[in-house]
Amino acid sequence: TPAKEVIIEGRTYQADEWMNTPSAILEALPRRLHLQPDHPLTITRKLIESRFPDYKTHNDLFPIVTTAQNFDSLGFPLDHIGRSRADTYYLNQSTVLRTHTSAHQADTFRKNESEGYLISADVYRRDAIDRSHYPVFHQMEGARTWDRQQAEREGKILAQIIWDDVTKIPKHDIAVEDPNPTFHAERNPLQAGHSPEEADAMAAHLKRSLEDMVVTIFNAAKGASDTATPDEPLKVRWVEAYFPFTSPSWELEVFWQGDWLEVLGSGIVSQPILNHASVPNRIGWAFGLGLERIAMLLYSIPDIRLFWSKDKRFLSQFHEHEPIRPFVPFSKYPACFKDVSFWLRTSSSSSSSAAGGATPIHPPAQQQTQSSSIPPPASSSTMPIPPAAAAPAAATPAFHENDVMEIAREVGGDLVEDVRLTDEFVHPKTGRRSLCYRVNYRSLERTLTNEETNEMHDRLRGLLVDRLGVQLR
Ligand code: PHE
Repeated sequence: TPAKEVIIEGRTYQADEWMNTPSAILEALPRRLHLQPDHPLTITRKLIESRFPDYKTHNDLFPIVTTAQNFDSLGFPLDHIGRSRADTYYLNQSTVLRTHTSAHQADTFRKNESEGYLISADVYRRDAIDRSHYPVFHQMEGARTWDRQQAEREGKILAQIIWDDVTKIPKHDIAVEDPNPTFHAERNPLQAGHSPEEADAMAAHLKRSLEDMVVTIFNAAKGASDTATPDEPLKVRWVEAYFPFTSPSWELEVFWQGDWLEVLGSGIVSQPILNHASVPNRIGWAFGLGLERIAMLLYSIPDIRLFWSKDKRFLSQFHEHEPIRPFVPFSKYPACFKDVSFWLRTSSSSSSSAAGGATPIHPPAQQQTQSSSIPPPASSSTMPIPPAAAAPAAATPAFHENDVMEIAREVGGDLVEDVRLTDEFVHPKTGRRSLCYRVNYRSLERTLTNEETNEMHDRLRGLLVDRLGVQLR
């Protein structure tokens, strides 16, 4: 079969028999969730970035890379499981959707633009399906390196320069368990060419930097969580790890709501990566973490698929410059919108006491729905309903929107998700006022049948007439 061309954001790739990337995955590429304003992944990214103010950020690196970038440059063995078509999305034999932000390590080291850098990006993995795994997710990678030649030129010892930098990292006071030695000959070896003093200093800089970041995040999460015990002190621990591109390597775990949670992988950058990237005089450390996992616990987001939601009920809950508040779940079941329009009964004059003619209509605050495209009139939150034509002074109570709400609750209970004013109209001749309300019927547990929504809405219409004396249109 002839090779097929795949065009992605204007770039052309020749697909071959390695191609295993479905169009649903390719459609996710342009989303760039970590760059969307007020998206929880963006807020999480910026929160982490704020702890590394001098690090250069790279947040728009293209997601399609070569197997050389994703695997070879990092020292992945040829038979590494990560290279298999079962684990990785290929376009052709030498082109993949990056499986981790580390795919950009070598290129970023080669640019040699800054001592520290952070890379945030969408990454792609064929993986199990559950509430915390999705084939597209987002990682942040960070690295910090030091220049041996510069130390020499300054007549200093590199390990001493690194230790001086350790003192510049903000202090924290949480409990850290770190039972293992910095390196271990069999389990977690020191690299040839690194002195024990250098490795110790880099490990200290890595650990204090990442502890500072994790303390910031988890204290923010704690402030937001209803479930965390406020006085339970934060605990973290370092455990030995293995990555093909770092040695020694460690993972950082956080004790969170009763479990040890793995937050990030890290280690001393394999010297061959730096050597091949034309910066053989530099040594340093790197880490990588999953942004979804951190955002999920920051905001108590229960399902990773929610990050992909375009639903305002999800997106409108996150604001960059506001304190973190837990996500409030909403129904997954379909909405059923029904409108009701009516003429208001001409009310008594403004002489009537409390409500008078000045009863405002308040659209329900903050409620937004996916499908109600008609915004309430801009002025509706403050616009009183003035008295219409002079009416008999008899006690016709003024219309109040809350009475509509109460009737909707009586009719539908929790099956009514929201009720909002979608239209207001004053008859030019009679001066009578007409209102249209849109009622969104939706269950948290099931899809409502047409019959039951119709039945509820008919009862609502009847009660509006009986109780409020309106005239249905
Ligand atoms: N790339 C690793 C992962 O995806 C994380 C990592 C990055 C580990 C940098 C060490 C250094 O799991």
